[in-house]
Amino acid sequence: MPTIGELLSDAGARLRASGSATARLDAELLLGFAVGADRTSIVAHPDAPVGQEAAVRFEEAVQRRESGEPVAYIRGIKEFHGLAFAADARALIPRPETEALVDAALVEVMTRLGRRAGEAGRGGPDGGGDPVRVADVGTGGGAIAVALATGLRARRVEMGKHVTILATERSPDALDLARENAVGHAAADGMRFVEADLLPPVLPDGGAPLDIVLANLPYVRTDAIADLPIAASFEPRDALDGGADGLDVIRALLERLPEALAPDGIALLEIGADQGEAAPLAVEALLPGWRSSVAPDLAGLPRVLRVERPGP
Ligand SMILES: C[S@@+](CC[C@H](N)C(=O)[O-])C[C@H]1O[C@@H](n2cnc3c(N)ncnc32)[C@H](O)[C@@H]1O
Repeated sequence: MPTIGELLSDAGARLRASGSATARLDAELLLGFAVGADRTSIVAHPDAPVGQEAAVRFEEAVQRRESGEPVAYIRGIKEFHGLAFAADARALIPRPETEALVDAALVEVMTRLGRRAGEAGRGGPDGGGDPVRVADVGTGGGAIAVALATGLRARRVEMGKHVTILATERSPDALDLARENAVGHAAADGMRFVEADLLPPVLPDGGAPLDIVLANLPYVRTDAIADLPIAASFEPRDALDGGADGLDVIRALLERLPEALAPDGIALLEIGADQGEAAPLAVEALLPGWRSSVAPDLAGLPRVLRVERPGP
């Protein structure tokens, strides 16, 4: 029987030769998947033998990865914001840089709950009144909406009562995956899933305006799609292609903000690292008088565009 160390070293070399920039990590994750253990156990036990069934499963997984398929689709899982999300070809694989958007959203929701509680003269998020209404536009597999709901629950926010999340998506397949992920994390309370082009013509709750619009929409320039790693070719093109300058879908959402946002509402939109100047210019052109700023992700790259309606 081959050992973990032998299989890793062979697969690592093959995956490196096939063009993976993360060959050793891929091999460790795939072997963990094949034997039903986490990566730490794999790394910690290089001399452990691997049974025949697991070795066959591993070989199949390595062959899929050699063909370029992303590790997340092969394992059927992707870690995001400390949670395990089901991942498959129905939706984009959640990216680590999107965690910056979730973190910014958590701060924004908690600030608003604190303010509402203060206005109601009580402490904590139980201030009463309307919930903070959030939308995650183009939710894909639901990563942002579910991570936000889970993070809020950990802060003792009662979903539905204090916060509602509208998760929209143009792709019905992706929306199904988002529902599955919400149910899988027991995060569906207070969440609604709606198939829509950006936002539904009539918002839920009788058209009540949104306090916070979140979105990680496609922002890759059409002519840059071919240069993406081969793994991206397994993902839905609609999840990536942002048009000639990458900002087509983001601009379409900006145009919807005046009708969708409450008077003190804001939008937090993920942008490409090379769009830190172009995205605020798009806000200036489409929403004169609105404020915008860009915050970096953990790598220090421009990532979260914040758009605010001017005060009264
Ligand atoms: C970059 S992916 C992000 C998915 C998810 N939000 C995430 O962060 O992992 C963009 C998503 O927006 C969806 N999308 C693209 N255009 C849309 C539109 N006009 N209305 C609604 N969803 C759209 C795509 O189907 C895709 O799932």
